[in-house]
Amino acid sequence: MYEHFYGLKENPFNVTPNPEYIYLGENHREALAQLLYGVREQKGFIVITGDVGAGKTTLIHYLLEKLDGNGHTKTAFLFNPKLTVNDFIQYILKDLGIKAYGQTKGEHLHILHRFLLNAFRKDEKVVLIVDEAHGLNPELLEEIRLLSNLETSKSKLLQIVLVGQTELDKTLAQPEFRQLKQRINLRYHLPPLSEKETKEYIEKRLRIAGAKSPIFTEKAFREIYIKSGGIPRLINILCDNALLNGYALDQKLVDQNSVREVAKDLKLMKKSPKILIGSLICLFMVAGILLFVYLQKGGHLIPIYKEALRGFQYIKEIIYKGASTIF
Ligand SMILES: Nc1ncnc2c1ncn2[C@@H]1O[C@H](COP(=O)(O)OP(=O)(O)OP(=O)(O)O)[C@@H](O)[C@H]1O
Ligand SMILES: [Mg+2]
Repeated sequence: MYEHFYGLKENPFNVTPNPEYIYLGENHREALAQLLYGVREQKGFIVITGDVGAGKTTLIHYLLEKLDGNGHTKTAFLFNPKLTVNDFIQYILKDLGIKAYGQTKGEHLHILHRFLLNAFRKDEKVVLIVDEAHGLNPELLEEIRLLSNLETSKSKLLQIVLVGQTELDKTLAQPEFRQLKQRINLRYHLPPLSEKETKEYIEKRLRIAGAKSPIFTEKAFREIYIKSGGIPRLINILCDNALLNGYALDQKLVDQNSVREVAKDLKLMKKSPKILIGSLICLFMVAGILLFVYLQKGGHLIPIYKEALRGFQYIKEIIYKGASTIF
């Protein structure tokens, strides 16, 4: 709608995963390096967690592209884990391109095992990626653990990557999953983007969409970071609405106020962790000063000083006594 107004060839802030728009910050690179290492070295279980909208699925799509492109890895990607156990095994077989002639779960597992052994002989890696893993029911989670038992005497036959929101950590911490937890060899928590990354992320999207000149002011970038907390999905929604708002108001340059207004309409009042910590420190300092003034005015400070001094002297005496018995 506003693309022509800003000289863009397409919408830069679509929330659909488009590989052309992928932005890799420091943390994305680290997560990818860990994932690729885990798969290459056949580490078995890998867990990736992150806040809602932090970019987990986008990262996994990027990983899948890399793995599928290398010719030595077969992947099965489960994006909706609300399945029965048998459906789950059948889904894996289908996604790996295996024709399943079996009927029962046992037969399907047998087919999968044969496939994995065959891949192992050809030096091919097989990876199962489960997205939205925080939504796995306990029965399926246990089944996944059992799948990780498929191994030769030397290495795992199936690499498993569980990807989910932070609740996944809580699920895995429950006593009933301690066996699974013990098998996790790599873990990575994908944090939100930093302020600098948020700006780079937005600029990259605008550049790919064809922007030739700046569209957001420096202060607008900062406001987007504050209100989105560096969460890519929120950044997209905020920027998209800010551009729409700017278009309606005939503003070629989106400023801080415009972003603030849009964030208010979207009810985005999230603060970045750094700003939240800063605000808390200020609050404590103000409370400390107020308490000091109150105590001094009420004449309570002198007795407190006296008590503290007495305590200090008592401690000093104990130390001296201790020292004289030693020497
Ligand atoms: N690294 C990235 N590069 C480019 N765009 C990204 C990136 N990460 C996230 N996005 C954008 O943010 C949107 C939300 O990201 P994504 O769906 O990957 O988050 P998620 O962590 O999987 O969310 P959920 O917790 O809801 O599953 C994506 O559709 C994409 O537009
Ligand atoms: Mg996701």
